[in-house]
Amino acid sequence: MESQWAEIGKRFTGQSPLAILAWAYQQFGDRITLASSFGLEDVALIDMAAQVVPCPDVFMLDTDLLFHETYQTVQAIQARYRVRLRRIRPSLSLAEQADQYGDDLWARDPDLCCRLRKVLPLNEALDGYAAWITGIRREQSPTRAAALAVEWDGSHGLVKVNPLVLWSTAEVWQWVRDRDVPYNPLHDQGFPSIGCMPCTRPVKPGEDLRAGRWSGFEKKECGLHQ
Ligand code: ADX
Ligand code: SF4
Repeated sequence: MESQWAEIGKRFTGQSPLAILAWAYQQFGDRITLASSFGLEDVALIDMAAQVVPCPDVFMLDTDLLFHETYQTVQAIQARYRVRLRRIRPSLSLAEQADQYGDDLWARDPDLCCRLRKVLPLNEALDGYAAWITGIRREQSPTRAAALAVEWDGSHGLVKVNPLVLWSTAEVWQWVRDRDVPYNPLHDQGFPSIGCMPCTRPVKPGEDLRAGRWSGFEKKECGLHQ
C-alpha cells in the first residue's frame, strides 16, 4: 500500500498544485477532504480547490483558542467561496479541560493539550474519508523536508495529498495576491505560521518560519503530521 502511493507521490511531486488537486479529486471524488487552519497555504488551496470542484469539503480543527483574526478569515473565505466547511470541536470545552487537567494545560503539557484539542478531533474529521489535502511544504521545517505530493499516511490510514509541497513562501504569496484571496491579517504582522493564541508568537527578522510556534518548548509539531 505504502510503496504504491510513494510511487505516485514521486510522479506528482513537481507537478503544479492545480494538476495535483485535479488528479486527487478525480481519484477520490467526495471521499477527500481539505484540512484548513486558514493560514496562507490553506486559503491558497481553497482558492485552487474551488477551481477544480464546485463545493470542496473543508474541515477546520477549532480548538476554541484560535485568534480573532483567524475566525475573521473563516468568514471572509466563506463569503467568497462555496465550500462545505466542517468545524470540528474537541470533546472537552476549555472549562472541562481546566477542571480535569488544571488551568493553562498548554503552558505545562502542550503535547497533551494538542492531543485533546487537535489530534483526537483530527481522527474524527478524517473518519470515513479516503484522502486528505494539507498545506504542508518542504521549506517549513526539517521534519517536512522529505514530504511528497502524495503519500500514504500510516498514522491515520488514508492518503495524504500535499499540493504545495515544493512551493516557496514567495510562490504562495504570489498566488494569494494574484487571485486576491482573503488571508489572515496576522501574516502582515510578523506571523508566518499561525496556530492557537497561547502557542503562537510573531517571529523576529532572521528567525525560521515556525520559530513562533510553541516557542520555549522543544515541541515543533502538534501531532497532525507525524
Ligand atoms: S501544525 O501541525 O504545526 O499545526 P501547520 O500550522 O504548519 O501545522 O499547518 C500545516 C497544515 O496542517 C495546514 O496547511 C493544514 O492543512 C493542516 N492544519 C493545521 N492546523 C489545522 C487546523 N486547526 N485545522 C485544520 N487543518 C489544520
Ligand atoms: Fe493546546 Fe497550544 Fe496545542 Fe493549541 S497549539 S491545542 S493551545 S498546546
